[in-house]
Amino acid sequence: MIVVIDGPAGSGKSSTARAVAHELNIQYLDSGALYRAVTYLFLKSEQSLSTFFESLNSARLSFEFDNEFQVTLNEEDITSAIRDPKVSAHVSTIAAMPEVREFINTLMNNAVQYDVYIADGRDLGTAVFPNAEYKFFMIADLETRAKRRHEELSSKGLQMSYSEVLAEIKQRDQIDSTREKDPLKQADDAIVVDSSTLSFDEQVQYIVTRIKETITTE
Ligand code: DC
Repeated sequence: MIVVIDGPAGSGKSSTARAVAHELNIQYLDSGALYRAVTYLFLKSEQSLSTFFESLNSARLSFEFDNEFQVTLNEEDITSAIRDPKVSAHVSTIAAMPEVREFINTLMNNAVQYDVYIADGRDLGTAVFPNAEYKFFMIADLETRAKRRHEELSSKGLQMSYSEVLAEIKQRDQIDSTREKDPLKQADDAIVVDSSTLSFDEQVQYIVTRIKETITTE
């Protein structure tokens, strides 16, 4: 079974999905982290995009949810490195490349076959898992999202002003929702959760309750 939460950057989907996974004791898949991993690899490789795409299939990218979502690339633990502002600044551009989307989609489809997952991303309910048992679309106004992301970065000791964070989120929204292949989009059958009007606990419990209803009526 798979449950998906899509939504724009900073809408609260990752922290919500992680909390739901903990509460229900199911697996969590952070698809944005995988796009970040490919972006990290690209920035490190210093190759042209076309050479990079040719070598992408030989990258050994794996992940594990063990309290946190951990990402390993060619035996290197890159869980923290993928949150670097340099990766954030380039990830939407790299994620828009069809070659990259195909690589990540194959990886995700293979991974979720044998367990119960909650996954978060941009196009999971529309393009990657159109038959997901539950689809949520999380929204919040731009300022709320920028404030949250700014606080998150500050708590990790990363220096970025609020206005820089706001500008970056705006730019990522634009690229993510207008790209040709599988843009950020609400699925027709998704349930909208507005995280600017709910407390964190309320939004987690709302989703947990809906999933439990499905599990108990199956
Ligand atoms: O969730 P995040 O902010 O860590 O995601 C990083 C980027 O990855 C985001 O700007 C767009 C891209 N992404 C995507 O294109 N499709 C997904 N399913 C998930 C993320």
